[in-house]
Amino acid sequence: MNVLVTGGAGYIGSHTCLELLECGYGVIVIDNLCNSNPKSLQRVEQLTGKPITFYEGDVRDEALLRKIFTSHDIGCVIHFAGLKAVGESVAKPWEYYDNNLNSTLTLTKVMRDVGMKNIIFSSSATVYTADNEMPLRETSRTGNCTNPYGWTKYMTEQILSGLAHSDPEWSIVLLRYFNPIGAHASGLIGEDPRGTPNNLMPYITQVAVGRRDHLSVFGNDYDTHDGTGVRDYIHVVDLAKGHVAAVEYAAKTKGCEVFNLGTGVGYSVLDMVKSFEEANGVAVPYEITARRPGDIATCYADPAKSAEILGWKAEKAMVDMCRDSWKWQSQNPNGFGE
Ligand code: NAD
Ligand code: UD1
Repeated sequence: MNVLVTGGAGYIGSHTCLELLECGYGVIVIDNLCNSNPKSLQRVEQLTGKPITFYEGDVRDEALLRKIFTSHDIGCVIHFAGLKAVGESVAKPWEYYDNNLNSTLTLTKVMRDVGMKNIIFSSSATVYTADNEMPLRETSRTGNCTNPYGWTKYMTEQILSGLAHSDPEWSIVLLRYFNPIGAHASGLIGEDPRGTPNNLMPYITQVAVGRRDHLSVFGNDYDTHDGTGVRDYIHVVDLAKGHVAAVEYAAKTKGCEVFNLGTGVGYSVLDMVKSFEEANGVAVPYEITARRPGDIATCYADPAKSAEILGWKAEKAMVDMCRDSWKWQSQNPNGFGE
């Protein structure tokens, strides 16, 4: 079966293309490269020895999508394409709503027209409200998002579940990711953020490699075991395998189902610094600074539904996540730019 992967040149997309190819799927990618480098796909081809059909273009380009669907026999779509920086979404809300909502609307319009109605969507733990009890279950409260990025994920979930409700032919899987980190064990593909990283692990690796002076730890007065924020970090290869499980699930079911993709275990910021230093034998100097606005103390998943229904469970440990993040960063100090 061929899978169309939107945003396939990006961080999670490239790792998922690799797992799909390893499992025998054909892979077609559409990506406008607004936040990625096509070298990621070349390296996936190198690692797997299998080709990827790549279309450089925008998912909002309806004519291009029609061309792709008529040129290939596609059995499922994984929709990663989107803008994902929380702070930028506050500064540029129109761009975020346009890109993230119109890409989904255009894609599903063409899918409906050609009669191919299996889609996996990249949602986020950010759709859960801040007042939930931990761990977060798929039935926990959602909404009250604090930024346009979060609203685009929430609204896209609404759009897709509405489609499934209106037409029983749709098979839709909403995957709520927790905090993806790590890289493929080869060190050939990984996360390559533009500019200053917003997220913890890329910041840690850039400090470790000497690109940045020190890590700022955003607050140590939270109600957690050491006062710093606790999150559910998941290895990107485990996450990618979750998508393969979702493709298999979508092929044999109809309707709309939501799944958490997390480990169920929370680590604090200082736990992460220590784990990284121990796994790699490199120092990560840090300073405690003020809380980052909008952050919550603790966020971790209950992954039981994914285990039960998708038959998927995260397998990699924190030491793997730290070692693989570092291998990627130290072998590619400037990401794909070198
Ligand atoms: P990424 O930026 O590395 O990948 C997204 C890809 O989509 C990029 O290659 C980009 O060039 C492409 N793209 C963006 N808009 C496009 C458009 N209109 N047309 C074609 N291509 C377009 O991000 P990622 O970390 O791989 O995230 C993938 C998806 O998962 C995103 O939807 C993101 O919001 C979601 N997600 C990510 C995280 C995370 O922490 N990385 C967490 C939860 C959800
Ligand atoms: C981020 C996103 C969220 C997304 C999630 C998963 C923001 C504001 N939120 O949240 O929408 O769903 O990733 O991808 O970007 N930290 C530091 N110093 C740093 C960076 C982070 O101390 O330089 C701390 C944070 O305060 C937090 C933890 O590290 O406690 C993790 O931060 P981050 O990697 O940004 O992820 P989230 O906060 O979960």
